[in-house]
Amino acid sequence: MVHVKYNDELLRTLKDKVIVLTGGATGIGRATVKQFHAAGAKVVFGDVADTPACELASQLGPSVDYIHCDTTSYQSQLSLFKTAESLYGRVDIVVANAGVANHKDIFAPDADIEIEPSMIEIDVNLKGALFTARIGLGFLRRNRESGGDKEDRGGDIILVSSIAGFKECGGLAVYTASKHGVVGLMRGLYLTAREEGVRVNVVCPWMTKTRLVAGIERGWYALGLPVNLPEDVARSIILCATANRSHKPTPDSPQSPQNPQTTHPGAKLPFEGKIVWVAGGESYEIEDAIQALEPQWLGEENSRVLAKGQAYLANGQTSWDAEKGK
Ligand SMILES: NC(=O)c1ccc[n+]([C@@H]2O[C@H](COP(=O)([O-])OP(=O)(O)OC[C@H]3O[C@@H](n4cnc5c(N)ncnc54)[C@H](O)[C@@H]3O)[C@@H](O)[C@H]2O)c1
Repeated sequence: MVHVKYNDELLRTLKDKVIVLTGGATGIGRATVKQFHAAGAKVVFGDVADTPACELASQLGPSVDYIHCDTTSYQSQLSLFKTAESLYGRVDIVVANAGVANHKDIFAPDADIEIEPSMIEIDVNLKGALFTARIGLGFLRRNRESGGDKEDRGGDIILVSSIAGFKECGGLAVYTASKHGVVGLMRGLYLTAREEGVRVNVVCPWMTKTRLVAGIERGWYALGLPVNLPEDVARSIILCATANRSHKPTPDSPQSPQNPQTTHPGAKLPFEGKIVWVAGGESYEIEDAIQALEPQWLGEENSRVLAKGQAYLANGQTSWDAEKGK
């Protein structure tokens, strides 16, 4: 893993950028709305919790808009993005943050298998994030024709998964499946999205002090385990949103060891297809290490052959659509 340090110099790159974020009423989303706003961005956020959301929007003023948006509804998400575009003419950064955890274990011995269980975590955490990413990509690709810096001719999608996106999480099997799905969405999307100038990354918070963790908090503190504040995770989301929007050498002042492209220390550019694990308030990029270790976990020969298959699938000509091959 690489410890990526947050460089708040990059906040200035967010001035007047247009952010669409889901689940902004409370917790991590609320802290993220505040930080984007403080950096001078325009924020249009959705949620289903109208009272705290309206209170936040009126507290922050005219450059922050709240739209009631249930992320499980495609139409509701379309309206959220359309509102942002009608207000500001474009969308630059998309954050798929809305999420829920059902703390009643549907696999518990006393759960009645005669009754169909709730799939709310799949609906909000996975289906909702898929909708956000699909619609978000559709809006970000409209920036291709716009002038300005290369980074502005596309945009950033930041998905919010969880430690449960890549580790076991006892008692939360459906949540874990949904959050593994969000990591899968990043891996499934970033290679094609980058062809259109859109960078896709995923943030995986460990324990973060919001209402989601009320049940485990006391025991957690007793063990002295690391804790994030919502503001820490918000910084990691902003780290992903700004890593590629860094100081750039110009023709007059070309890139050199003395004049490098500056970003968040530790962030490897282009910053796309990354998994940022947030633990104890710090950000750790872990996907590059997972990929680099592949020959160890798959075996060298398997890894070599796999690379050939992956290259075939990603060559730009190959299509899964059998109709296209005819
Ligand atoms: N708190 C943690 O320890 C932790 C750890 C890992 C990942 N996460 C993830 O972080 C994200 C934010 O969670 P949080 O901890 O801030 O909890 P939270 O409950 O404070 O925030 C979640 C927000 O999503 C909103 N929401 C729920 N269903 C929605 C829907 N259908 N449409 C729109 N909005 C909806 C809620 O109203 C709330 O404002 C979630 O995706 C969560 O899974 C949290």
